[in-house]
Amino acid sequence: MHIRTLGPSGPQVSAIGLGCMGMTDFYSTGQDRAEAAATLHRAVEQGITLFDTADMYGPFTNEDLLGEVLAPHRDRVFLATKFGILRDPARPQHRGVSGHPDYVRQSVEGSLRRLRTDRIDLYYQHRIDPAVPVEDTVGALADLVADGKIRFIGLSEAATDTIRRAHAVHPVTAVQSEYSLWTRDPEETGVLATCAALGIGFVPYSPLGRGFLTGELKSPDDFAPDDYRRHSPRFQGENFLRNLHLVEALRQMAARRGVSASQLALAWVLAQGPHVVPIPGTKRRRWLDENVAAVALTLTAEERAGLEAAFPLRAAAGDRYPAESMGTVNR
Ligand SMILES: NC(=O)c1ccc[n+]([C@@H]2O[C@H](COP(=O)([O-])OP(=O)(O)OC[C@H]3O[C@@H](n4cnc5c(N)ncnc54)[C@H](OP(=O)(O)O)[C@@H]3O)[C@@H](O)[C@H]2O)c1
Repeated sequence: MHIRTLGPSGPQVSAIGLGCMGMTDFYSTGQDRAEAAATLHRAVEQGITLFDTADMYGPFTNEDLLGEVLAPHRDRVFLATKFGILRDPARPQHRGVSGHPDYVRQSVEGSLRRLRTDRIDLYYQHRIDPAVPVEDTVGALADLVADGKIRFIGLSEAATDTIRRAHAVHPVTAVQSEYSLWTRDPEETGVLATCAALGIGFVPYSPLGRGFLTGELKSPDDFAPDDYRRHSPRFQGENFLRNLHLVEALRQMAARRGVSASQLALAWVLAQGPHVVPIPGTKRRRWLDENVAAVALTLTAEERAGLEAAFPLRAAAGDRYPAESMGTVNR
């Protein structure tokens, strides 16, 4: 497994991590606990060290799963989890946000317990709370570092100004945002470049476009009734069909190179800088093996240019989140 550093002086992790969210939540299509556990074990065997979860996945079931399965491997893995999105069982698509220092202190205890560990390697604020200055939230996180409960601090979906303000209070080790061929927003917003300039690792989530860029998804009707993607504008009706054309171009380029569409999509993300560590998500060993192999793929300048021409900025039809969730993205 290739190794990357989250920022020039940050921790070393595998060049790709494993996104675990779909194992217990959101992508209910094909969920199988035994296969998810086998995938986690296989990831450790393959040399993956960065495992990504959050308290709101489930909620809580995802951390429980990782805590149970990864406990025997604890010293070989780098556990990243997140706090700050509040869910309401009565309104499944609603998202509350909290970055209050008391909430931070309370949340970390639950995550430590569920992950069966005495320290979290990377603790992200999942969404910036517009009602609480980021300096206050990061101040609480800095206290947790001093207490030894967390090792490194991260932010998810934070704007450049927020990143700079947070980094002035305590070094930020990683920023996690959606980034892929069909979501090139971090290039436009300057987040990717800001992280490089400040020595912060950048962790693209949904690097496979929540499965769309794999070329395996054929119809919005193929999702289980409670699969999250039924609520995502990009996966609905006319948008889905228009986006299929984008993926066809990716499939053709991948075929010319003799790799899968997923591998080409991951290789493009990995080529965006040495500080970039994507966390493709899967709950199956089969896809894990395929994704790990993408780390060894080096793209030519011509291939990169070809992909960027096929996927210009804002190429995807439809927003990446429903309107209410888009509202929680810090811009
Ligand atoms: N910070 C945030 O706000 C945020 C938001 C979303 C996600 N995340 C994190 O980022 C991680 C990754 O993102 P993601 O899971 O949303 O999306 P993703 O990695 O772009 O795509 C995951 C989907 O692609 C499928 N897949 C993966 N590899 C494949 C392959 N080689 N061939 C065919 N299909 C393949 C998976 O199928 P199976 O499910 O069948 O394996 C799953 O449906 C998550 O697990 C989570 O930890 C963070």
